[in-house]
Amino acid sequence: MTKSENNLTQVNEPLITFDQKTQVFHLHNKHLSYLLSIDEGGILSHLYFGRRIRNYHGQRRSPRRDRGFSGNLPGTTDRTYSLDSLLREYSGKGDGDFRTPALVVRQADGSHTIFLTYRSHQIVSGKPSLEGLPAAYVETDEEAQTLIVTLEDEVSSLRVDLFYTIYRDRNVVARSVKIKNTGRTTIHLEKVASMQMDFNNRPLDVISLPGAHANERHQQREAVGFGIKEFSSSRGTTSHQMNSFIALCDPDTNEFHGEVYGFSFVYSGNHKESVEMDQFRQTRVTVGINDDQFDWQLTPNESFQAPEVLMVYSNHGLNGMSQTFHHLLRERIARGKNKYRERPIVINNWEATFFDFNESKLKKIVDEAKNVGIEMFVLDDGWFGHRDNDDSSLGDWQVFEKKFPNGLRRFSDYVHQQGMKMGIWFEPEMISYDSDLYRQHPDYLLKVPGRKPTPSRDQYVLDMGRQEVRDNIFNQMKQLLQTENIDYVKWDMNRHLTDVYSTVLPAERQGETLHRYVLGLYELLEKLTTKFPNILWEGCSGGGGRIDAGFMYYMPQSWASDNTDAIARLTIQYGTSLAYPISSMTAHVSESPNQQTGRATPLKTRADVAMSGVFGYELDLTKMTAMEKMAIKKQVTLYKEIRPVIQYGNFIRLINPNQNNRCAWIFVAPDKKEAVAFSFHVLSSAQPTFDVLRLAGLDSDRNYQNVATGKVIGGDELMNTGFYEKIDNFDFSSHLYHFKVVTV
Ligand code: DGJ
Repeated sequence: MTKSENNLTQVNEPLITFDQKTQVFHLHNKHLSYLLSIDEGGILSHLYFGRRIRNYHGQRRSPRRDRGFSGNLPGTTDRTYSLDSLLREYSGKGDGDFRTPALVVRQADGSHTIFLTYRSHQIVSGKPSLEGLPAAYVETDEEAQTLIVTLEDEVSSLRVDLFYTIYRDRNVVARSVKIKNTGRTTIHLEKVASMQMDFNNRPLDVISLPGAHANERHQQREAVGFGIKEFSSSRGTTSHQMNSFIALCDPDTNEFHGEVYGFSFVYSGNHKESVEMDQFRQTRVTVGINDDQFDWQLTPNESFQAPEVLMVYSNHGLNGMSQTFHHLLRERIARGKNKYRERPIVINNWEATFFDFNESKLKKIVDEAKNVGIEMFVLDDGWFGHRDNDDSSLGDWQVFEKKFPNGLRRFSDYVHQQGMKMGIWFEPEMISYDSDLYRQHPDYLLKVPGRKPTPSRDQYVLDMGRQEVRDNIFNQMKQLLQTENIDYVKWDMNRHLTDVYSTVLPAERQGETLHRYVLGLYELLEKLTTKFPNILWEGCSGGGGRIDAGFMYYMPQSWASDNTDAIARLTIQYGTSLAYPISSMTAHVSESPNQQTGRATPLKTRADVAMSGVFGYELDLTKMTAMEKMAIKKQVTLYKEIRPVIQYGNFIRLINPNQNNRCAWIFVAPDKKEAVAFSFHVLSSAQPTFDVLRLAGLDSDRNYQNVATGKVIGGDELMNTGFYEKIDNFDFSSHLYHFKVVTV
């Protein structure tokens, strides 16, 4: 073992090999292989990503052919070698590859041409962290190896380090990119994708997760065709409108069978996933920070670290891919003391009271919550400044005396005396005009000089790229969290970024504002979560507007959507589960008719949908009947029993609500000794179909007992013959099946 120039330990373990003779790198574990090679002229070409192969014998070297209108290598006369048709690992612009570039650089002379060739590489054990950015990690260096290939544009001395980490026991390759200006002139990075991957000619579908506020992450699947299809956010955050996850799969891939490649961006700001089918039916995927409004100045010797992309390969369909993401995100993205702790069942006062509450009203809800066994009270928006509606006080994180005349500590002590935990809501990135913070620091928000900033929900965005702004918010939050005995924080964000201009940056650096915002946000999150390691942190952005792998590095769970309607939640939670674990998705039972959709649904259905996530309630318990409270008590008791299987079992989607009048999924304990399946029927019918439910993920050789009925059935039978479900004669019904292995 030796130490490299980066002070990382060199290893000879066989997760990554380099064949000097063929110039091929082979990253492999027992599941997958990733092959790339140094091709003619030092071009880094892509060969293969997929199911594991033992040894590569050179069959995927790109064929050579003289192609019209596709340039050749500078300084050569070989017309059969073209960067426009080669499968490549990372492309610049202007080198004859006319497809989507991963890197766009504006040189000091105004030119954009860049020609990246191999310079060196190293293979190290473990996984280097990414400075200032969230990333998947390892607990021991034995878990993974990393290949770092350095490319260089010789003329400008720009170096590009491509990082590839392969985990020993996961179907994952993590990629990121670091750019270093080793030249003498200042350059501008106009686009830095974190990865590029070229697929050979094969038909592919692309799956994305578009949506809207209160309607997030619906699975969209379409065939990849000629041209460029982009999935992106220019809103400053991940966004409700387009999540930073895509998957490419064979057209016949379904939940259980077929090949699929998932790409999840570990970042919480603007993003772009682009999919381009070229003239030869090859498909290029690039994922990275959106180049819209991005322009990063790099002076000599400066480096730029691009965020990470997690690439998952599965030949067991979409469920196979999702399970790999679920394990990776909850085991090697989520951190902190609450990572593996069972999450408390909450009662949140938002949909119960909105801004109309005071200490005595809340105490009554707390009392009722205690009686039904709820474990935590969450005080939502409206407890600070003089906030009675949403047009004031953001930025003033001091307790609103009118609502808590005895101070917040008295109330939080009361909650604790009832044996419950106490949570509180913040919206730390925002400022209201009507706030002391604005009166003292009118320059703290993002705004373009001479223009009136665009309001949204009557609020404005703090420039999180500025140290003094972050310090101010940190100190206010620290003060409150230290004194009020808080166990949980909900970190909300209720608008997107406009007027992108930072008063502390010069004109030529304004294109850095959005990324600096995210870096500043991450720095603040790191500081707060380190300072308060026992607090359970929950992300939120008007529901699920910032659900991404980056935010999960700081907060292990997120409010999945402001839409609490059980039927709407079926598609939202189904789509979210494609890329994010159930332990990260909070879901609450709210009142009926639902406040967002007006739909009336049975309490049981609402509970079954919410129990399929991190469970809680968001309604006024004091207004419920004795019967309803009794039912809630039973739901709480049941959830406590099944919580470990739900939060840490394997989640398998069974029936897609987008294509059916039904939806079903199952949670199976890692040892397969216990399982909980949920099935939902949307609309009832006068002539209902007889529906069989077939389970998955069980042990075929064992018998399972239905906890409710006592009936014993074989795992093979439950998965293959399945069983007819009871037909309910009403809309929006649901069934929960709890099975435990028996030895008879
Ligand atoms: C949006 C969140 O998603 C809601 O749950 C609630 O906290 C409101 N904001 C409060 O303003």
